[in-house]
Parts: sequence; structure tokens; C-alpha cells
Amino acid sequence: MDVVTLDLSNQRLTGEISVPGDKSISHRAVMLGAIAEGTTQIEGFLDGEDCLRTIEIFQQLGVEIVRENQSVTVVSPGIANWKTPKSALYAGNSGTTARLLTGILAGSSITTILTGDDSLSKRPMNRVIEPLRAMGASISSAITQNYLPLSIEGVQLNPIDYKMPVASAQVKSAILFAGLSIDGETVVIEKVHSRDHTERMLEQFGATIERRGNRVTVIGNKKLTGTNVHVPGDISSAAFLMVGAAITKGSSITIKNIGLNATRTGILDVLFRMGADVTVHNVEDLNGEPYGHVDISNAPLTAIEIGGDIIPTLIDELPIIALLATQATGTTIIKDASELRVKETDRIMAVTTELKKLGANIEATSDGMIINGPTPLLGGTLSSHGDHRLGMMAAIASLISSKKVEIENASCIAISYPSFFDDLKKLAISSDLKG
Ligand code: S3P
Repeated sequence: MDVVTLDLSNQRLTGEISVPGDKSISHRAVMLGAIAEGTTQIEGFLDGEDCLRTIEIFQQLGVEIVRENQSVTVVSPGIANWKTPKSALYAGNSGTTARLLTGILAGSSITTILTGDDSLSKRPMNRVIEPLRAMGASISSAITQNYLPLSIEGVQLNPIDYKMPVASAQVKSAILFAGLSIDGETVVIEKVHSRDHTERMLEQFGATIERRGNRVTVIGNKKLTGTNVHVPGDISSAAFLMVGAAITKGSSITIKNIGLNATRTGILDVLFRMGADVTVHNVEDLNGEPYGHVDISNAPLTAIEIGGDIIPTLIDELPIIALLATQATGTTIIKDASELRVKETDRIMAVTTELKKLGANIEATSDGMIINGPTPLLGGTLSSHGDHRLGMMAAIASLISSKKVEIENASCIAISYPSFFDDLKKLAISSDLKG
């Protein structure tokens, strides 16, 4: 098992950095580039493991995709001309690949088998299978009901008006993608807004899409055409460095060109409400997605309650927010986040187990965590549980731990942030402010 040992106990973070491209936008750019006819040029693509699985899958379907680092060119004959693949499609660890692809393949004209790694094969697929079956999809589960591997026979689907039982952009996107193949209106109704990159990008590729309040409608059977996509930096990756700066004495950093879509910026609200020194500036818009620079410095932090509609806007940041809360004065309550139990690992269990090893005062609840702070953290050996966001949380904890932190199974960090350790080293400098 790969182990990384970090001793950042006398370091603080300073300087400017750009983080790799947004994972959600990178996946969707390849997917829509493959569905559309013609050429799509993607700049700032995230070359993390999850997005590489998405590229490989569409190459198997006969789409020409050439990647040179963060530049990707997709040349597609359009979804109607995809080839039946010779072998199963492998989504690796990527829930976004598996769930969005299920929606796309359900209304295609090919038959495929979709597989994933051990973690992904334990994650619920019924949340996409149920609405897709209601649209007439032919999806069967090969081994255990409603888990990968899935066999998907592309058929002519019917429109649906679907009220989402969970706030999930993956489910919403799967249904909207399926709706592209239908001569009629497919409607998704959300109780709480989840990330809306699919809706924004569908417009860029020429789809007919309407958004009113919590209703999204796609009118299908329209030819989509390839376009250019600029991927901003991933705020979910930046979150680790932002929290590192917020909790480490003497730190002050700028993260440049990160995505600032309001369905993703809950982490900035939390940092601000806790008292961190945060400034957002140079905000611009590209391809319908806002992005800009964020300055963040260390300041005294106060505990807050995090729950309700903000949860989908920071769902992937909750592991690093739990670490942040260990340094805030008072009791931080995270609630309404039971979705954490079905991520790459059960993140409520994994975060509480690992932070307790460092001496944190943290308890799991059914739908969140309760954290009392501030607590000094000790060093120790932590497991990533094969979950990239747990691995990065452990690494950032090293900045405020009195002894070294060993991270077991750290290579999974490459799933979303391949240059994470290099970027952390670039910002870390020896601190004379600490003891
Ligand atoms: C994602 C949606 C979220 C998020 C995941 C990426 C997406 O999942 O946790 O990392 O790109 O649509 P859910 O749809 O399950 O909330």
C-alpha cells in the first residue's frame, strides 16, 4: 500500500496558485462533445483518474479523443453513429461517469455493459435506474440488484416529469441527457438546487433547455454541435488549500481562476461565516460559468451550524470542513448531509474515525457530524479509505499537527487532484511564527 509521510508542523501557506480543472465540468465537456456532432476543444481539462475513465469510455464508443495534458480535442460523429464497444465500459471510481453515462446510453442505439471498481460497485445506482426505467429504459443489473455492473440496451425513451427525491446533480443530469434523445419535453423538478453545470453546458452545445424556479425542461431530438469549453479551476480542490490557509497561523494565499458557480460556493460562505479572511475578486464569465480569484488568510475561527439548502453546494467539501471545524471555537454542527454515507466511502464514518486518531473532538450523527473546537491535533497514521478527499484532508491536517502524519493509500488523491502534493509544497514555507 502506498504511504505518504508529511511533516508540515512548522509550515504555513503563502503565495499564488492555480488548481487543476473542475471535475464536474471536465466530465460533462467530454460527454457533450461525444454526444454532439463535430469538434469540441476543451482547455483546462482535469487529467485526474476519474475524467480519464470518461475519455477512455467514449474512445471505446468510436469517438476520436486526443489529449495533450490539459487540452482535449473531441471529434465525434454524433451519438447516433457510436459503435457498439467490443468489451465492457469501465468507470473506475467515478460516480459521475457511471451515473451520467447510464442516462446517455439508455437512449442511444447501442447495447453496453458498464462496470466500476469495488467502491463504485457498492454505490447506489437505483437513483438513476428507477427514473430511467420509468422513461422506458432497458437496464438490468448483472450481479446484485441495481448496482454495477449494469447491462444497458439503448431504446427509444418516453418523456417524464420527474420530482427528485434526493438533491443530486448526477441524477438530474442523467435524466436530462436521456431527454436529449426524446421528441418531447423531459422535466426535472428539484426541491433544492444541485450543481447546474449540465444545464449551462447544454445551452452552449445548442440544446433547447428551459429553467424556471426549480424546474428544468429539455426538449429533445435537437442536433447538438461541438463547441469550445474552458474549464475553470475546481473549487472543490481549491477548498483543501483554502482551509489549509484558514487554519494555519501566518498563512495568506491567492487561488486564481477557480469556478464560482453559486451552486458550488458553499465553502466560501462557511469560511466567511466562521470568520476566515476571504476576498473574491476579478470575477468573469466564460462559457456561461463564472470564475475568479480568491484571497484567503488565517484569522480566529468560530463554530457555526451547517445544514439545509446549503448542503448540496458544499457536499464534497464536508470532509475538509470537518477539519476546519476542529480549529473553530465552539460546537460546529453539520446536519442534513446523509448523502455523505454513499460517497466514495461512508464519509461520516471515515472522517470521524480519522480525525479522532489525531485527537479531534468529533462525533458522527446519522446525517452529519458534531465537532467541538479548538483542539490541538497530534500526528499519526491515517487511512484515506481509498477516498481522494479523505487523503487530502489528512495531508492538510499535517499543517496543524504537532508530529508527522502518515497517509495510507495516498495515491487515490490522483482521482481529482494529481498535482496536490506538488501544489501544497509550492505554497508551504517554513514558519517562524510557530513554536
Ligand atoms: C457531481 C455531483 C455530486 C458530487 C460529485 C460530482 C457531479 O454528486 O458529490 O462529486 O459532477 O454531478 P451527487 O449528484 O451524488 O450529489
